[in-house]
Amino acid sequence: MAFPENFITELIERNDIVSVVSEYVRLTRRSGSNMFGLCPFHSEKTPSFSVSPDKQFYHCFGCGKGGGVINFIMEIENLSYPEAVEFLARRAGMQMPAETNDAESRKRARMLALNRDAARFFYEQLSAPAGAPAREYIGKRRISPATARRFGLGAAPDDWGILLNAMEKKGYTAPELFSAGLARRGKNGGFYDTFRNRLMFPVIDVRGNVIGFSGRMLGDGEPKYMNSPETLVFNKSRNLFALNLAKKSKSGYIILSEGNIDVVSLHQAGFDCAVASLGTSLTPEQARLLSRYTNEVIIAYDNDGAGIKASQRAIGILEKLDLKVKVLRISGAKDPDEFIKTRGPEAFRNLIENSENQIDYRLHAVTSKYDLSVDEQKVEFLKEASDMVAHLPGTVERQVYAMRVASMAGVNTDVVTGEVERRRRKLINQARSTEEKKLLRPGRAGASGGSAPGYDDPASAAAEEGLVRLLYLEPELASTVSLPEAGEFSSPELGRIYSALRTKAEAGESVSTASLTDALSPEDMSLLVGLLQKPEILSNSRKSISDYINKIKDRRELRADSSDLRALASKLRQSKGYEG
Ligand code: GTP
Ligand code: MN
Repeated sequence: MAFPENFITELIERNDIVSVVSEYVRLTRRSGSNMFGLCPFHSEKTPSFSVSPDKQFYHCFGCGKGGGVINFIMEIENLSYPEAVEFLARRAGMQMPAETNDAESRKRARMLALNRDAARFFYEQLSAPAGAPAREYIGKRRISPATARRFGLGAAPDDWGILLNAMEKKGYTAPELFSAGLARRGKNGGFYDTFRNRLMFPVIDVRGNVIGFSGRMLGDGEPKYMNSPETLVFNKSRNLFALNLAKKSKSGYIILSEGNIDVVSLHQAGFDCAVASLGTSLTPEQARLLSRYTNEVIIAYDNDGAGIKASQRAIGILEKLDLKVKVLRISGAKDPDEFIKTRGPEAFRNLIENSENQIDYRLHAVTSKYDLSVDEQKVEFLKEASDMVAHLPGTVERQVYAMRVASMAGVNTDVVTGEVERRRRKLINQARSTEEKKLLRPGRAGASGGSAPGYDDPASAAAEEGLVRLLYLEPELASTVSLPEAGEFSSPELGRIYSALRTKAEAGESVSTASLTDALSPEDMSLLVGLLQKPEILSNSRKSISDYINKIKDRRELRADSSDLRALASKLRQSKGYEG
C-alpha cells in the first residue's frame, strides 16, 4: 500500500515518536539525548528500551526490536502498515488521502459496521415483543434500564434467522455474517443465527468499535456464555470487556473481575472502573492494555478455587508491568455481583479500602498451605515464605515481611532475614548471568562493536553496514559515487535494506525509518535500527563511502575467486576419478 510521500512525511512530523511512545511506556532521560524505559515488547526489570528524539526511532537493546513511529504502532497495537498509518493520522487529526483503503482495511471497516448494526438490532429487540424473556431476565438480575442502555445490552430472540434477515435487508450477506461470527453454517450449507435466546453484551474496544459479542443464557444451562469467535476485528486476548467505559473513570484504579454480569453490576453500584477479561484468564496483552490507563489494579475474582488460582496468575502478569496490585477477598458471596446485591455498595467500598496488597495476599496463600504447629511443615513454610520475600524488590519491604514471617512461625527474625538474604544473593547471581548471556548472545541488533557477528562474511558485512548507515544519514551521497548492486552484498538482509534505501535516496525522497516502514519487514527494520546505533563519523563521509564500496567489491571478488577455486579443485578431483 503506497501513501503519497508528503502525506507520510507530515504524518511523521505530527506524531513525534517520544510523545507516541510515552502513551505506552514511561520514558525517562538517562544520559545524552536518548530516553529510556521498560521495553513493551519483552518483559524486563531494568530499562533497555531507548527512544531517540533526534533520530525519531526506538531500539531495544534487550530484544533487538526497533523502528520508526509507524513500526511502533504496528507492533504495539497489532496493526498492519496501512492501519497503523490510519491510526496515527487519526491521532494527529489528519485527513486520510482518498484512495488509501486497501482490501483488508475495507473488510475490517465493513465488519465493524455490521457489528454495530447487529448491536443496534439486539438493542432494539430488548424493547420489542421478541425481547420479553431477556427483559425479564435483566429485571431478575436487577439491572436497571439506564445501566442496560449504558452497556448497550440487547436481546437475541429465540429464532434461527431473525438477525440474518434483518442484516440482509441492510445489504449484508450471509457469508459476511458468518465471518463476523454472527451466523453459523448448518450441515446442509445454510446459515443460521449464532446467538439465540440470549442476553447480549456488545464488546466495545477503547476506540469505540463494536468488535464482538458475549451472549448469556437467560437462566441456567450450558453453555452459560457464548462469545464471538476470533475474527478479523475480534481478538479475545487483546481486549477487555467494558474498558471503553472504565478508561474514563476517575477512580485511579481498575477493578478486574471475571464475569460480564459482575462488571455491569459494579458499574451500576458506582464502580465505573470495572472490567473483565473475555472468558479467558488474564493475558500479558490485556495487562499491557490496562497499564495504559492505570497504575493500580484491584483483582475481584470469584470466591472459588478457580478464582483464587486465576488471581495468583494475574498477580504475576500485572507485577511484571510495574502495576500496583491488590486483591479483594470476597467472603459470604460467590462473586462481586452477589456481594453487592446482598451487602450493598458501601460494603464493597470497604472491601476495596481494606483490600490486601499482593504481598499480604500471597503470604496468606502460603500460610494456608501449612500447619505451623507441626515442625516439618513449619520448616517447609519458612522455606517457601523466605523465597517469596526474597523476590520483593525493596530492602525495607523485605525486612518488614521477614519479621512478619518470623513471628508467624515463632522463630527469631535473624533466622528468616538470613535465609531471605541468602536466597536474594542467589537470585541476583542468576539475574546477572542471564543479563550477561543476553549481552554475549551473538546477534544482530543487540550486539555492538566494529565487526558484524552472525554474518557469513563479517569483514564485508561490516562495510555493508557502514554503507547502509552512511546512505541513511546522508542520502545525498548517493549521487556522488557509483553505488554497488545489492547482489554484491554478502548479507541478503543488508542487501534488502540497502536496496530499499538506495531507491529512496536516488529518487531524492526523504529517508527515515518511518518512510522505510512500508518497504522493510519488521525484522529487517530492527536490523537497520540496530546498526544505526553504531557510530559513524561523518566529517569525511565521501572518503568513507568509497572505502566501504571498495571493501565490498574486494570481498566480493575474493569470495568469487575462492568459489572458483573450489569449483576448479572439485573439477580436478573429478577428472582424476576421485569423486563419483
Ligand atoms: P453469573 O454471575 O453466573 O450470572 O455470570 P458471570 O457473568 O458472573 O460469569 P461467570 O463468572 O460465570 O463467568 C466468567 C466469564 O467466563 C464470563 O463472563 C464469560 O466470559 C466466561 N464464561 C462463563 N461461562 C462460559 C461458557 O460456558 N463458555 C464460554 N465460552 N465462556 C464462559
Ligand atoms: Mn458471576
